[in-house]
Amino acid sequence: MNPFDKFDRQNNILKGDLSTLTSSHIPENFPHRDRQIGLMVESLSSIMRDSRPSNLLLYGKTGTGKSSVTQYVISKLGEKAPNSILTCYLNCQTFDSPYSILINVARSISDVDSIPLSGWPLDRVYSELNTRIEKSKRYIVIILDEIDKLVEKNGGDSLYVILKAADESKNSKTSIIGITNDTSFTEKLDSRVKSRLNQESIIFPPYNASELKDILEPRVKDIIKENSIEEAAINLCAAIGAQEHGDARKAIDLMRIAIELAIRENSDCVTTSHVYKARDRLETDVLKETIRTLPTHTKIVILSCITASEINKTNMITGEIYANYKDICHDMKIPPVSSRRVSDLLSDLEEAGLITTTMKSLGRYGRTRFIQLNEKEKEMKKYLGEDEEMANFNFNRKSIQTRFGTNDPTEATLDKIISAKEEERPN
Ligand SMILES: Nc1ncnc2c1ncn2[C@@H]1O[C@H](COP(=O)(O)OP(=O)(O)O)[C@@H](O)[C@H]1O
Ligand SMILES: [Mg+2]
Repeated sequence: MNPFDKFDRQNNILKGDLSTLTSSHIPENFPHRDRQIGLMVESLSSIMRDSRPSNLLLYGKTGTGKSSVTQYVISKLGEKAPNSILTCYLNCQTFDSPYSILINVARSISDVDSIPLSGWPLDRVYSELNTRIEKSKRYIVIILDEIDKLVEKNGGDSLYVILKAADESKNSKTSIIGITNDTSFTEKLDSRVKSRLNQESIIFPPYNASELKDILEPRVKDIIKENSIEEAAINLCAAIGAQEHGDARKAIDLMRIAIELAIRENSDCVTTSHVYKARDRLETDVLKETIRTLPTHTKIVILSCITASEINKTNMITGEIYANYKDICHDMKIPPVSSRRVSDLLSDLEEAGLITTTMKSLGRYGRTRFIQLNEKEKEMKKYLGEDEEMANFNFNRKSIQTRFGTNDPTEATLDKIISAKEEERPN
């Protein structure tokens, strides 16, 4: 008997390719993006009239279709004018310096006499790029996706270098499409960069649930046999995506995982229960990955929050967490960082969605920050327990004795803080 035999049976659900529900698949139709596609086409169509298009900046939250719509539009432009245009799509998560961006553009124009991946001075890359642009006699559109990552890493000047290279290219045939999830991106740019990049901008607003349904339905119907999916399952994916800042990626990922689960269970129909299970899985994956990729001290701080919360669920304060933090560092034989730094790390954790903090005024004692863990406390502890970096810590210790110590579910928190503040006062 072959252990794979049980998978021989044809699945009852699929008639098409499930991988069309991944981000790398570019669909042919984009419901609710006619306006954005129209604006991009209008701007790029100047190439067909033999004039350079403006630089464009596209922005909107994740999953609003920026990357896929752009790839769709440039592929259509390439079909229409194959001899007069060359497009170069780079994600700045990967290509994160002006050097790597400029050489990749140069290489995509022509692959002869490759420029080394490092070592040349930037101005040599610059002039080589110019020569290649001139020789190619084509319009070049450079798409810099997640352009904010470039600026975050190298500052606004790096973007200026690229914009200038494009502007000054011979015959001025090069333009740039920048894409960002960060809606306040332009505020971080100085005016000379901003005015060059943002010659035109296009906003991708978040989708609402009914729009997400219009996006999901045709993509699902293409690959699922008739009557093999409950309408309610599609609606639920759309609703969850809408809750998540109108994110089509989330809705599509959920749908794909729900379908995979239904196939694995050998069901005849994808139901809402598959979608709920898919959501749990997706959330688990995200949480696990978030925890795994935290810097060591941040991992210790979140563990300090967890141990403090085991004693006192609500109303944890920074002092308490810092005391725990130092305890754990001591156990793990790691030198602790300052309480001010831990305060910053708490802000990072809030940004990562793992804790919530609220400032409360305590009258003459000033203001203090109260910290609360977001649900999933058990899972967080479990993932930390599995973490290699935390291997030195004994997770079986019942709970860590905090400076404030007792099991205190009452509203005695204020006293606790006041005494902590008194202690903190310089004598
Ligand atoms: N209007 C739409 N129609 C069909 N699919 C869409 C639409 N908008 C987004 N998508 C899909 O949602 C996913 C995320 O889109 P993407 O372009 O990667 O978003 P962004 O770049 O804005 O984060 C992709 O799989 C994409 O195909
Ligand atoms: Mg994108």
